[in-house]
Amino acid sequence: MNDEIKRIDELRSELHRHNYNYYVLNAPEISDRDFDFLMKELEELEGRHPEYFDANSPTRRVGSDLAQGFEQTPHIYPMLSLGNTYSIEDVDAWVGRVEQGLSGQKTAFVGELKFDGTGISLIYEHGKLIRAVTRGDGEKGDVVTDNVRTIKSIPLELQGSGWPDFFEIRGEIVLPWAAFNRLNAEREAAGEPLFANPRNAAAGTLKLQNSAEVARRGLDAYLYYLLGENLPYDSHYDNLMAARSWGFKISDAMTLLYSIEDVDKYINHWDKARRELPVATDGLVFKVNSLRQQLNLGFTAKSPRWAVAYKFPAERAATRLRFVSFDVGRMGIITPVANLEPVLLSGTIVKRASLHNDDIMRTLGIHEGDMLYVEKGGEIIPKITGVDLDARLPEARPVEFVTHCPACGTPLVRVEGEAAWVCPNKEGCVPQIVGRIEHFVGRRMMNIDGIGEETASDLFTHGFVKNPADLYSLTASQLDTIEGFAAKSAARVIEGIEASKSVPFERVVFALSIPYVGETTAKKVAKAAGSMERLMSMSTAELEAVEDVGPRIAATISAFFADEQNRQMVQRLADAGVTMALPEDANAEPLSDTLAGKTIVISGVFSHHSRDEYKELIERHGGKNAGSISKKTDFVLAGENMGPAKLEKASKLGVPVISEDDFLKMIGE
Ligand code: IVH
Repeated sequence: MNDEIKRIDELRSELHRHNYNYYVLNAPEISDRDFDFLMKELEELEGRHPEYFDANSPTRRVGSDLAQGFEQTPHIYPMLSLGNTYSIEDVDAWVGRVEQGLSGQKTAFVGELKFDGTGISLIYEHGKLIRAVTRGDGEKGDVVTDNVRTIKSIPLELQGSGWPDFFEIRGEIVLPWAAFNRLNAEREAAGEPLFANPRNAAAGTLKLQNSAEVARRGLDAYLYYLLGENLPYDSHYDNLMAARSWGFKISDAMTLLYSIEDVDKYINHWDKARRELPVATDGLVFKVNSLRQQLNLGFTAKSPRWAVAYKFPAERAATRLRFVSFDVGRMGIITPVANLEPVLLSGTIVKRASLHNDDIMRTLGIHEGDMLYVEKGGEIIPKITGVDLDARLPEARPVEFVTHCPACGTPLVRVEGEAAWVCPNKEGCVPQIVGRIEHFVGRRMMNIDGIGEETASDLFTHGFVKNPADLYSLTASQLDTIEGFAAKSAARVIEGIEASKSVPFERVVFALSIPYVGETTAKKVAKAAGSMERLMSMSTAELEAVEDVGPRIAATISAFFADEQNRQMVQRLADAGVTMALPEDANAEPLSDTLAGKTIVISGVFSHHSRDEYKELIERHGGKNAGSISKKTDFVLAGENMGPAKLEKASKLGVPVISEDDFLKMIGE
């Protein structure tokens, strides 16, 4: 028995080492077969000793398919972004500003690749990975530890020595090109929507509820920022080299640079060499090497002054136009789309690019069979930027915008003062109806799992769902009649529909597809109205009084709710039990005026209440919550681990920092 436990320990550390050799060093010492053999042995032993379970065991890398909603947690230090530059001159100017900021002190820089994936914060305690958190909104993120454990290049237990007892390391989770192309090929074969770029694919994968699927997709991770109290060195470069010796994957492209010339050379080199990399990058990052100098330079509200990003110029290719098609959106807007001879651009194959609207199409002056220039910038949504007139085919005719809806044949109308042509057949035009159902079930709206584009369309063609309210009378047996719909998925959809009834009111407003009412406007309108009943009876003048709502949006909201079909749909949603108002205490009664006239910034991690609860408490005691510290801040409510940037700023401006307990005393809790 004791021997078996000993063997488990041995196997675990041996397998950690082989993982490292394979996934970080790209230098395996043993064959895949031998590796599998050791893994099997460990699995067997662990099966016999469940009491010796370890979440960081190499066997856990395979993931599980247990659903696991994501808990949110505040970051110890906020995850800021970087200032962007787009030319060598801009980078040089930044170097100049840094040197000036340091009163001419000698400054070394570190050049790095800017990986185009999704940011991650990893927390290690006593050499073990204890938590992995996404960037989220920069202040708090989703805990995705189980998914991150499946990424083989992330050490679950550190090797070597000299790491602080507790530290954070940040980096980027990426889906290498090879894995990305494989994934998209599989999705295409299965008729599933493709990922636009490796960044979306990496972010989407990290948020999957099925860590076995995460493991299968082949994510990788590069680390580039070590944070904590007792770092081994006082320079960024040395700390990352130390991290490399602990088992982290630190890019070989990281280089010390000692002058502007070095920086420029680095840019010129990687502008070309990046095309050969196995992962997507969208630029370079330059950082001041000395941590002391970093501290001196400090932060602006959004980003460090000691680092800057340089974005690679967009790549451009020329390709032949096959034809222009016209898509019909859920609001009836017709979008012209250039269908192209496939062309490889920044690692992905481009076949279609939006031409946006009639005006843009006219300005480009596109003719049939034209050679078009396609560009892909940071956002990777391909864009047509011009026409090669020399390559125009003789007698080619200009491409005309359609006059009738390509889906239902209704004559199109053009809204006064707008570039868009619209199909007015809201209730009878299939892509509009299906588009509204699809929007309604989407993740940021009612979040009904299991219904994608295809299912939305199947539900409509089978006559089960003609408008979103019909979803609430859908049955599992109806779903079973849809070909290719597994019983398990049917159960999931029904559960998802039930769960959607408790989605907050503001998301219900967004889900309705009221023209021009996007996510932010929906939130503001919902908050101002408080309930659907009230929203439906608000006059245009009252609507215009809501922040962000101008006459145009006010008019469309009024028109939407004046429509009898829409009113009926909303009534049916209400009857089904969908949330139709803000929670009772959302506009809770004030508790006191202790904090009247005070502007308060919240920072750090709290133990008695959540951050949102503190925001609410501040408001209910008459105070105002602000996002960043300024001269106007009265005090900072600080939890554990307040970010160093905020601390520094508070002390510079002489803003008092008050602990959680003192604050609670102050408001008499
Ligand atoms: S450093 C405070 N280094 O780019 C500075 N970021 O716009 C922390 N990124 O959110 C970031 N490669 O997700 C840094 N070598 C690199 C990077 C990098 C990619 C991402 C990161 C960050 C975003 C900044």
